[in-house]
Amino acid sequence: MSSPFLWGVASAAFQVEGALAEDGRGPSVWDTFAARPGAVRDGHSPAVACDHYHRWQQDVDLLDRLGVNAYRFSVAWPRVVPQGTGPVNKAGLDFYDRLVDALLERGITPFPTLFHWDLPQALEDAGGWSSRDTASAFADYAAVVADRMGDRVPRWITLNEPVVHMAYGHAFGTHAPGHALEVPGVLAVAHHLLLAHGLAAAELRSRGLEALLTNNLSPVRGPQDPTGADLAAGAAYDALHNRLFTDPVLLGSYPDLSAFGAAEVPGVREGDLGVIAGSADGIGVNYYNPSLVLAPEEGAGLPFALGEITGVPTTAFGWPVVPEGLTDTLVGLSERYGEALPPLYVTENGCSCEDTVVDGRVADPGRIAYLESHIAAVDAARARGADVRGYFVWTLTDNFEWAEGYHQRFGLVHVDHETQVRTPKDSFARYRDIIAARTGAP
Ligand code: NOJ
Repeated sequence: MSSPFLWGVASAAFQVEGALAEDGRGPSVWDTFAARPGAVRDGHSPAVACDHYHRWQQDVDLLDRLGVNAYRFSVAWPRVVPQGTGPVNKAGLDFYDRLVDALLERGITPFPTLFHWDLPQALEDAGGWSSRDTASAFADYAAVVADRMGDRVPRWITLNEPVVHMAYGHAFGTHAPGHALEVPGVLAVAHHLLLAHGLAAAELRSRGLEALLTNNLSPVRGPQDPTGADLAAGAAYDALHNRLFTDPVLLGSYPDLSAFGAAEVPGVREGDLGVIAGSADGIGVNYYNPSLVLAPEEGAGLPFALGEITGVPTTAFGWPVVPEGLTDTLVGLSERYGEALPPLYVTENGCSCEDTVVDGRVADPGRIAYLESHIAAVDAARARGADVRGYFVWTLTDNFEWAEGYHQRFGLVHVDHETQVRTPKDSFARYRDIIAARTGAP
């Protein structure tokens, strides 16, 4: 019997848990970064977030009411191995163990991610993702978690959005750990992330478990009348954003990065690509919007420039709403990688809106329209042959949106960050109805 299509929501430890210094959790790069003046808009603190560490049962009840059959969450590495390597913190593992059991009791498939950007600070101090040792530390941590929960959780996502962690965290410096490295350093980070995925996948698979890689993908749009230079810029952007992580995993080779002045990726040792190639049992697609890519100005630092997509609605974040981009992404992956492509999961999709509670209700028609159109886009991709096995809305509860703090509300459930009161929005009811209709649930 084939598994049912997964209808879920996604979250990440650092964005919801709070309790940063409780029960033996060690500090992470995001604890450090968020404390830097100016790093997070209006100085918002992640210290409490949604207080999920204490209110997780309430959040599981919300999942139950929503009727999802899967929940994507992340395990915080600094809770489980507070120093990144060495002693394991039993209390940290216990927290996720209880969560897994509570989900299973309600018939919800746990779909955990092992790394959603909260690197233990001790590892950052030892070189972070610029160091090859971080990749083996990650594999050891993956093995610890799998040994504890692999009996109940068959499918694991290793990394979340390595391209965003690489670019925002290590090139632009707007996310933790806040580095602004040059191209070779940035590519070395990418290679170590890929190696971490490959080594962790080997640990998971040796225990009979599946390993998936989730990345942010953004299909390239060009201007209406593209020049040759625009096309070259689009190809460069595509190589960096959409192929840098998937090509090595699915094809065993890096894409052409010569437009970035990189003849080769630094840090690659003999045998590494063998570890990375074929190491994904599924690809997770986080889709938010396409990118309009143009030729750069003379003398610009990058071989592409990004333009503004006009003529479509935008989210509160200012992101263009283009559901066809999701169809293009899913179908494009199938066309590009053919037989080498494992099943696809839309592991994140959603939008931020200006949501307010009025008389106990949150009307969010923009989010409802967004979700309906993007679910239809998944249907369209499946009708064109893309093997999509699940769809996860980002996210259950309004939460700590990284450098934006609490300014962007992506949840199906409104959270008052002063009182922690949770109020399901209209989109919660709409998504519940969609799931019920699609799964035949009452
Ligand atoms: C992708 C990231 O994985 C998630 O952490 C973030 O909140 C959403 N995008 C929205 O920006």
